[in-house]
Amino acid sequence: MGVAVDEPLVDALLAVAPAVAEAESREIQGAQAEGAPIRRRGVKTVADWTREAHSLAAKADSIEALAEAISGFTGSPLKVGAEKTVVYDGVPGASLMVIGEGPGADEDRQGKPFVGRAGQLLDKMLAAIGRTRTENTLISNVNYWRPPSNRNPETDELAVCRPFVDRMIELSRPKLIVAAGGIPAVSLLQSRDGIMKLRGNEYTYSTPGGYSVPLIPMLHPAYLLRRPQDKSRAWRDLQLIEKRLSELS
Ligand code: URA
Repeated sequence: MGVAVDEPLVDALLAVAPAVAEAESREIQGAQAEGAPIRRRGVKTVADWTREAHSLAAKADSIEALAEAISGFTGSPLKVGAEKTVVYDGVPGASLMVIGEGPGADEDRQGKPFVGRAGQLLDKMLAAIGRTRTENTLISNVNYWRPPSNRNPETDELAVCRPFVDRMIELSRPKLIVAAGGIPAVSLLQSRDGIMKLRGNEYTYSTPGGYSVPLIPMLHPAYLLRRPQDKSRAWRDLQLIEKRLSELS
């Protein structure tokens, strides 16, 4: 037996649908312009998107395939306002993997992590311990899309990226991870402590797929640009990283 279709009701719904979509899109754009976190009122929850990210990440059998999967993923609300998806730069399989916070304006324009002023300082810091992104270092972030007004990424925005971060670690199998700054350090270590307490120590990061790797937090180069008086702390971070890399290889 068929179900009778209430034609006037269908017509009424179709008539309001574009207006609802437009209002929702205005809400997203408005929130982005103000730099506010975006809570999308869609059918999928953060848990749904995280599961989808996990399934896409699990299917990727190379860093290149993973980068494609990340670029095609629509589960981060930040993607709406970003120009590019910024996944990684450097050498997959390198013994050192640096993980930062996420793209800023320069990275969003160029589609590569750490290419602005902070990135140039990061390159100099790495060079001081014999590391370059062209030879022996992989560089990525815990979030792949530039947040509006360069605000910090929200917990939910980081959560949907995490399966990709984990898969990149599993595919590249670094001997040491450096978390550049408080956002990646706190998020990866699920810590209540801030970067000033975390730095100077070594931790173990374990992916759900079973890869365990030492992780050292260091001061973010953008922080050092603002507070050059902390460069002796940064130098100590680098010395610890250099020492552990030589022991681990
Ligand atoms: N800061 C980060 O943490 N990551 C980038 O890619 C650029 C700046």
